[in-house]
This record gives sequence, structure tokens and C-alpha cells, in this order.
Amino acid sequence: MFSLELSETHEMIRQTARDFAKTEVAPSAVERDKNGEFPTEIVHKLGELGFLGMMVDPQWGGSGLDALSYVLAMEEISAVDASVGVVMSVNNSLVNWGLDTYGSDEQKTNVLTPLAQGVVHGAFCLSEPEAGSDATQQHTTAVRGDGGWILNGTKNWITNGTTASWYLVMAQTDRELKHKGITCFIVPRSAEGFEPGLKEDKLGIRSSDTCSIGLTNVFVPDNMILGDVGQGFKIAMESLNGGRIGIAAQALGIAKGAFEAALVYSTQRKAFGKPISDLQAIQLKLADMATRLEAARLLVYKAAWLKDQHQNYIKAAAQAKLMASQAAVHIALEAIQVHGGYGYVREYLVERFLRDAKITEIYEGTSEIQHIVIARELLKSLA
Ligand code: CAA
Repeated sequence: MFSLELSETHEMIRQTARDFAKTEVAPSAVERDKNGEFPTEIVHKLGELGFLGMMVDPQWGGSGLDALSYVLAMEEISAVDASVGVVMSVNNSLVNWGLDTYGSDEQKTNVLTPLAQGVVHGAFCLSEPEAGSDATQQHTTAVRGDGGWILNGTKNWITNGTTASWYLVMAQTDRELKHKGITCFIVPRSAEGFEPGLKEDKLGIRSSDTCSIGLTNVFVPDNMILGDVGQGFKIAMESLNGGRIGIAAQALGIAKGAFEAALVYSTQRKAFGKPISDLQAIQLKLADMATRLEAARLLVYKAAWLKDQHQNYIKAAAQAKLMASQAAVHIALEAIQVHGGYGYVREYLVERFLRDAKITEIYEGTSEIQHIVIARELLKSLA
């Protein structure tokens, strides 16, 4: 039975994340959004707090916490700065999870441990110029060489792309086998022929770094294959199930930040001789925003809870991401409306929430893909 009881540890994680967001992340968030600077120092401190390896066993440098703790921390950090949230989400869900689940002890010692400790961070390379939603259409190839594989191709939209130290790269090792011929390679930033491109100039999450990656005859030794040859698509899809919970929590945080800003502002701004919070037109908005926020929160926490119970969470993760990302965009738009003209200028924070919210409907599976995932899971349950 789904239960939302938070333990003392959960409350402590939430408070720690809230305090950290307020004191360490918030002061530089506006400036970093303006100049697109990567939050290097903040990411380093996230590592010290144990937030970059939240669900990894302490044996491999992690904090050994559950998915609900991760979601609570993601929500608080993203309520202040979603750019920091996505660095954290990709490292925890898309990089560490796969290494923890499929890695050899050697890979866990050399790669997972520094990633989980937050000494370095990682990136996940699935998307390509011609393989976004249709992720099975990998054009990056890996051909057999002496003692390993030689990779060629281009990856796109890679979060943490210019700053990561380790990359999980999906490549086609046997085209005939279609998605069963895709393999996941662990590639260090220092590999010869591995070239991150220029940072993209994005609408939102501007201080996170996104870029394309060129791979030209990059040699990867056999011991750096994650899982088995041909298992890469399965690893990518399973990683994305958890990743969607992380992005749902990021969206939830954005929605919370936007809602709280609107709520406070409505009590401060006066019109027609009284605070605008006394006007029904504004009260309707606040009530609607709060209800969507709470509905999104329940779905996000439920998806994390199912993961923690080792139950199937594919549908729940997709529903949480779909709902929370839509709530984030809607609530950010309404927060601007409550602020009126002030909501449209950079001096007030709410316009950033809208710019940051939009990407949550796109990455780690667009809303259209989430609908497909949900529908397929519903139909599977009939079979
Ligand atoms: N969990 C586990 N396995 C899954 C899965 C899931 N959610 N979705 C598909 N699979 C498995 C299927 O079971 C199947 O395996 P078998 O052949 O062994 O049965 C295999 O994957 C292929 O599945 P389909 O036949 O359903 O493939 P499809 O091509 O019809 O559809 C898709 C697959 C669901 C559309 C998938 O391509 C998808 O999720 N696309 C979106 C990709 C995505 O989310 N990209 C995000 C990029 S990463 C990013 O944004 C990173 C960043 O930096 C922030």
C-alpha cells in the first residue's frame, strides 16, 4: 500500500537540501543564469554533501539512501536553481545507476566511486542528431579492434557534456540486431578522438552545460563495456526510467519555486486598495496552482516509493514526469501572470522558472514519449 510517511532521515535530507539551496545556490543563481556559467563550486559542495551519489552503496562512495530521499533533495535544489538540479539528476540517475547495477567491481572502484563521491561528475550519451525520441536509431558505430572497440559518431544534447570526466556512450556494435546490437561504453573525457563541442546557448537551465560530442576513432578497451555487448539499449531504457523520476522531481521543484514566489508576491502587491491576494481572480489562480503542485508531488513521490519497494515503476515514472513537467510550465506561466509586468522582467525571478520549466517537457523523453510509455504499460497489463 502506497504510504507517504517521511522518516526522520527523509526530513533531515529535505532540510539539508533546503538550507544548502538557500545559502549556497540561491545567491549566485541569477548571475549564473545571465552569464551561463557552470556551477563548479556548488557541484563540488553537492559532492561533499553526498548528493551526487545518493542511492549508491557506501562501499562505492555513495550515501546509500533511497529514491524518495533523492526526490526530496532534487525538489529543494531545483526550487532555487534547476540548472544545478539537472547536473545532480544526470549524475545520480543516468550515470551512477547503470554503473551500480551493471558495472564490474573494477568499474565500480575506478569510475563509480569518484562519481558517487562527487569528486568528478558524469554524462549520458544516447541522443544523436538523427536519434532523439526514436532512440533505437543509433548511428554511432563501434567496430572490433585489438582488445577493444573503435567508436565513431556524434552525440547530441549531452547534459554535463563539457565538464564531465566520464561518459556512458551508446553505440551500435551490430546493426543487424537493431536495438539488441547496441552496447554501452564507459569513456573517459581524456580518450583520444573524444571531442565535446561548444556549449549550447539555451532558453533555460542556462548554467548547466549541454553540448554535442564528436567521436573519431575513439578506442575503448573490453573492460570498459558496461554490462554485456548488446545490452546497451536495455541499460539506457532502464536508466531513463529512474532518470524520469529525477526530472519529474526537478520539474516539481521549479513548480514549487514559482508557486511560492507568486503566493508571497500576491500578499505584497496592492491593487484596488488591497493586496491582490484578496481578489478572487488571483485566489482562483493560487488555488489552481497549489492543487496542480500537490497532484504532481504525489505522483513523483509515488514513483520514488515504488522504486524503493522494488516494484515496477516504469508507468509511474512516466506519469510523474508528464504531470510534473506540465504543472511546472503551467504554474510558471501563472506565476508570471500574478506578477503582471514585473513577472516579465529579469529583475523578478519568475520568468526564469518558465524558461527552466520548458525543458522538463522535452529531455529524458518528451511528453509525447511519456504518453507512449504509459499507454504501452497499460496495454501490457491486459496481456
Ligand atoms: N524500460 C525498460 N525497457 C524498455 C523501456 C523502458 N521504459 N522502453 C522500451 N524498453 C525495451 C523494450 O522492452 C524492448 O526490449 P525487448 O526487445 O527486449 O523486448 C526494447 O526496449 C525496444 O523497445 P520498443 O520495441 O518498445 O522500441 P520502440 O522503438 O518502439 O520505442 C521508446 C522505444 C519507448 C520510444 C524509446 O525509444 C524511448 O524511450 N525513447 C525516448 C528516448 C529518450 O528518453 N531520450 C532521452 C535522451 S537522454 C537525455 O535527455 C539526457 C540528458 O542529458 C538530460
